[in-house]
Amino acid sequence: MTPVCAKIGGRSDIMKNRSSEDAIKIIESIAKMKARIRKYKEKNLSIALVPTMGYLHKGHLSLIEKAKANTEVVVVSIFVNPTQFGENEDYGVYPRDLERDRKLSEEAGADYIFNPSVEEIYPRGYNTYVEVEKLTEKLCGKSRPGHFRGVTTIVNKLFNIIEPDRAYFGLKDAQQVLVIMKMVEDLNMNTEIIPCPIVREEDGLAMSSRNVYLSKKERSISLVLSKSLFEAKDKVNAGERNLAKIVARIKANIDNESEITIDYVKAVNMINLENATTLENKVLIALAVKIGKVRLIDNIILEGN
Ligand code: PAJ
Repeated sequence: MTPVCAKIGGRSDIMKNRSSEDAIKIIESIAKMKARIRKYKEKNLSIALVPTMGYLHKGHLSLIEKAKANTEVVVVSIFVNPTQFGENEDYGVYPRDLERDRKLSEEAGADYIFNPSVEEIYPRGYNTYVEVEKLTEKLCGKSRPGHFRGVTTIVNKLFNIIEPDRAYFGLKDAQQVLVIMKMVEDLNMNTEIIPCPIVREEDGLAMSSRNVYLSKKERSISLVLSKSLFEAKDKVNAGERNLAKIVARIKANIDNESEITIDYVKAVNMINLENATTLENKVLIALAVKIGKVRLIDNIILEGN
């Protein structure tokens, strides 16, 4: 790869006009990834990480594009992390397509894909986990015990391997963003967490790698989620301040669809995820449902003033 040295507008021209030898590199070994990172650190180049589980869509790509706009070296990690899946969840069938992800990441401006094997990340005898308390007992943490322990463990490991100046996360997983920020604060980590807005399909459905599981009928029913959240926002903009009423309305909309089972619909504050009663500060309306076998989450941030 041509060295990333001439810094012009925060990023070298060389990186913008890639030749084929500058094509995105896929690295599978931790030692190799660390060696590359060391070289960039010696040159004082900034490094961004976009952690993903692959099967990339426009939501992921928006994170890569943001990272590219602000950082010299962009690493996308693609790792379907077994420790964040429950026993009866979809780890085994989680969609994977590295070739497609390679093309999309390259087009979006990434320089490296870090794609380790499970054995590379969790070798035999692996025994160390990172856990954020309290925040992880709420919302998805309640229905997916151990999920966030798996997330914070892998993100911590990725931060140690890639030492990113910045890491980009989507607000599609708003609780995940708060949990990661808390981990970074509590453990004095050096990475700045950049939360990025939710990217949606044209009809409103929040993009997710899991949307491919939806049948045509389920895909069309799923629209009730984003529609209900947008309706809530419209109501607040029109002066509604009763959060209980707003939540009840969203639940009623979703309950109208017999194929959907609600896990939770909640209005919570964005500091500790406790139930919110007023709209004085930012309020997160978050929901999780099952449509058939597919678990979907969505949310919207409301501001009363
Ligand atoms: P994954 O679900 O692949 O998501 C990777 C990143 O993309 C997360 O930060 C997620 O919030 C973001 N993202 C997903 N859909 C989005 C959308 N529609 N709009 C904007 N951003 C979106 O989240 C994970 O993987 C894992 O838990 C991970 C952090 C990689 C740890 O294994």
